[in-house]
Amino acid sequence: MKNLRAILFDWPTACLLAVSAAVHAAGDVTEKRVLAESGKGTNWFLKGGNFDGEHFSPLADISRSNVADLGLAWASEIPAPDGISATPIVVDGVIYFSAAYSVAFAVDAKSGKILWSFDPDVRAAVATMPRMSWLARVNRGVAVWDGKVFVTTADCRLIAVDAASGKELWSKKTCDPAQGYGISDSPYVGGGKVFVGNAGSESHQKTRGYVTAYDADSGKQLWRFFIVPSDRPEENTSAAMKLAAKTWSGTALEEYGGGGNSWNEMTYDAGSGLLFFGTSGAVPYVHSLRSPDGGDNLFLSSVVAVNASSGEYVWHYQTVTEDSWDYNATMNIVLADLEINKEKRETLLIAPKNGFFYVLDKLTGELLSAEKYAKVNWATHINLETGRPVYDPAAEFWNLAEGESAAIWPNMWGAHSWNPMAWHPGEKLAYIPVVDIPSISTNWGGDDYSDTLEMMTEVDGKPFGPGKLVAWDPLSQSARWSVDREFPFNGGVLATAGGLVFQGDALGAFEAFDATSGKLLWRVMTGSAITAAPVSYKVDGKQQVLIPVGAGGGVQFAYPELHAGDRPQGPTRLMAFTLGSDREVPSVAIVPRELPDQPALTANDEQIEEGRWLYADNCGSCHGKNAVARYGGSVPDLRYSSSDVHASWPAIVIGGSRSANGMPSFPLEAGEAEAIRNYLLSLSVQLRKAATSSAQ
Ligand code: HEC
Repeated sequence: MKNLRAILFDWPTACLLAVSAAVHAAGDVTEKRVLAESGKGTNWFLKGGNFDGEHFSPLADISRSNVADLGLAWASEIPAPDGISATPIVVDGVIYFSAAYSVAFAVDAKSGKILWSFDPDVRAAVATMPRMSWLARVNRGVAVWDGKVFVTTADCRLIAVDAASGKELWSKKTCDPAQGYGISDSPYVGGGKVFVGNAGSESHQKTRGYVTAYDADSGKQLWRFFIVPSDRPEENTSAAMKLAAKTWSGTALEEYGGGGNSWNEMTYDAGSGLLFFGTSGAVPYVHSLRSPDGGDNLFLSSVVAVNASSGEYVWHYQTVTEDSWDYNATMNIVLADLEINKEKRETLLIAPKNGFFYVLDKLTGELLSAEKYAKVNWATHINLETGRPVYDPAAEFWNLAEGESAAIWPNMWGAHSWNPMAWHPGEKLAYIPVVDIPSISTNWGGDDYSDTLEMMTEVDGKPFGPGKLVAWDPLSQSARWSVDREFPFNGGVLATAGGLVFQGDALGAFEAFDATSGKLLWRVMTGSAITAAPVSYKVDGKQQVLIPVGAGGGVQFAYPELHAGDRPQGPTRLMAFTLGSDREVPSVAIVPRELPDQPALTANDEQIEEGRWLYADNCGSCHGKNAVARYGGSVPDLRYSSSDVHASWPAIVIGGSRSANGMPSFPLEAGEAEAIRNYLLSLSVQLRKAATSSAQ
């Protein structure tokens, strides 16, 4: 009796305990949870989904047989004019991600309601450092660990935000923007640490790339790994830097910093305690200009493994020795157990920009195989004995005679860019968003080829060239299936245990394919171009597939015509899909763009031509090549400027009246600003003519 009473008495307490065991504090991501729940798929704890970086969901409720019944659960408009590049993180029913200018959001996965947003105020800094604009606008997400959301900013801050409230807890400066560094990527987490890379050389900045680890709780810096040696020999004391220093000649380290920045996805492996990341190339692009007496320039264009606790070098594999094409190896890294020659191997898979798919031993870096997953003409093959590529003279643009051009496959932005590929551990297939277009290089004379790689906008007389979704078998090193895309740059990929592969495209289609055959099983038009990768998780026991829509990413800003073009697009949204839900996908009223009233054009051709050059030098990097800007983005299309804007031109362009919003002030002469205005006005006149003639 006494015992029973005791039990009865303890009932409420017992209930409370049971409840609290199931309820997690906000942002409850720990090593233990990521490992224990990796087979469950209820959450999407890390950018790559799990510690293997697979971008794979083990959920199979939504499957080949029922995906046709997938419907919209909710759509939530996000105040982010430049779209979303981030792969969202989902923890216990809350979605965390960031958009342009590192504005971070927490969204309720049940309703799509924004719970909080955090704005680290990057715009004003961008106006003082115009080259930062891209980095700032392509921000690729956040990481979550132990109650904190980690945000990185273009001006080099790592900020810890309280996952429950969205309030800033601490902030660390992880690189110096004044020295050319910046950050576009999210941080990565594992083992109680936050890992942060940086960008620089790809924007022609003098930087020496590195990766830094911080204590996730306190923000204390734990270690820093430099990717290229210092130009001061006495600083190259570690074994890795001693090794790397021997592979450089000439003055590039001093003049250009060496580059090699790790600016995209890293993979932390809890099992081996290793952290893997890829590295970029360097400026000047042409190896002989950078390193006139030869040398491999370690650790450029490489995959590097370091001890995640100490930051010590473990191994590297250089994908492009003597790189001259800026073929970054910074694409997402997947860890996979494969049987190769009847032996179980723990492998690392990567499809870097250079068009080869590599299978490496993840513990030693040994090259197991490498084959072309896209059209490649810079190398005939990779020598498996030496691990080195065998060059094909077809792409050696530095040997072109004056006036000659060459098409270089893949293009400088990669046969695969930052948009993550996915890995299906059951199918043993990688699904790669492939870009099948070349760069064109022309020898304009002189001996500096650093800027001569141009993106090709026309292939075989057809504009833009295709993109593809390729299902790649790393064992046979061949494509199992492939789907064509009209535009080259499309979204990242998600694979699921339901036998499905999800991807969004540049035209706004969000689609599910059969993971085995590539058959299209489901499709919805979202109304906006897609560049981000989808994720999957459970809400109230039901599987959801989430896709951020709204084009983001550097290509969108630099070459809108290679992405979704300047065609009007709908708003930036999160869209969550689930089985049996039949809410209508909100229609997007696409209103044709109309030119406002504008002043008359009075300039002559010479002034317009001067303006064209001045525009390209000063304005094109933000307002778009040939003055075509991303429709609806935070940087306006200047062909559509109103009379008011034309009237306040000098105040905006020279006077800096919009600098708080990210528009720099330029030290231009009044006449130069006027020439740019006239050039833009001449384009407006052309648009007006085209509109009238098509209306007739
Ligand atoms: C670092 C990126 C960047 C560069 C480079 C840049 N702009 Fe801008 N510009 C912006 C942003 C961002 C805005 C939007 C500001 C706002 O929202 O008020 C803007 C707005 C403008 C506007 C106002 C347009 C409108 O419709 O409100 C004009 C005019 C303009 N820019 C002209 C120029 C010219 C001319 C150049 C080159 C000399 C240039 N910009 C270079 C980022 C840039």
